Amino acid sequence: MTEALYDRIARLYDPWSVSVTEDIGFYVEEAVASGGPVVELAVGTGRIAVPIARAGVPVIGVDESPGMLSVARTYAEREGVSSLVDLRLGDLRDPPVDERVPLVTIPFRSLLHMPDDDQKRRALTAAAGLLQPGGRLVFDVFSPSAADIEETDGLWLEREQGIFERADWDERSRTLVLSVRDREHSARMELHWLSAPEWNVLVEAAGLEVEALYGWFDRRSWSEGEDQIWVCRTRSTRSPTRTVPGASTSA
Ligand SMILES: C[S@@+](CC[C@H](N)C(=O)[O-])C[C@H]1O[C@@H](n2cnc3c(N)ncnc32)[C@H](O)[C@@H]1O
Repeated sequence: MTEALYDRIARLYDPWSVSVTEDIGFYVEEAVASGGPVVELAVGTGRIAVPIARAGVPVIGVDESPGMLSVARTYAEREGVSSLVDLRLGDLRDPPVDERVPLVTIPFRSLLHMPDDDQKRRALTAAAGLLQPGGRLVFDVFSPSAADIEETDGLWLEREQGIFERADWDERSRTLVLSVRDREHSARMELHWLSAPEWNVLVEAAGLEVEALYGWFDRRSWSEGEDQIWVCRTRSTRSPTRTVPGASTSA
């Protein structure tokens, strides 16, 4: 079996992302409001799925990395919520999920692992296909600012004690090569960003309509910032399509 990208940093992932906590409460709120069950695509180590289960909402988590799923399984056991966390090995573009649910989430920029528009559209369409009528897809992505690129490009920065991260930005292809390492583990991954209007086109092509686009997890409206938090709903025949300013509607 081929190794998944995150397998080699499965034990490093939680210490690396320990300071990323701002999104957890937001996704837990969405999960509780939906009534569950929730499908989290690219569930990773359960950083968000386990708090959702702790709030009493069942989660089906899909990830392509056995190593990440193993860490998630241990986390769920430690928190006493294993019965609410159903972890499945699979690709988010073709998730091994027959259930239809009120909420699908793809947190922490995981969609940026999709290399091009076609793969992003496939992933969004697969996520939309898991929703019950009226169900929602919530995901977050980013698009870097010029200042962020200038400050970090090509530099090894100590993100957490003993954990170093390096960003190599290619603005032409809109690709970030992100490297991470500690004494024992290392990985290099590509993230492919898009503008908000481009995401809007893909969301609509997946048969969804945009209910809200936030600029941060406190639900402030997006206004050209780096972070985009999309709340999308299965398209109802009666509601008009809401588009982000500047977005073309043709996919
Ligand atoms: C940035 S982590 C996010 C993990 C988790 N959602 C969180 O918020 O901490 C990205 C995850 O996406 C998974 N992943 C990447 N490509 C995938 C694919 N094609 N199908 C399923 N999982 C994928 C990786 O294995 C990794 O666990």
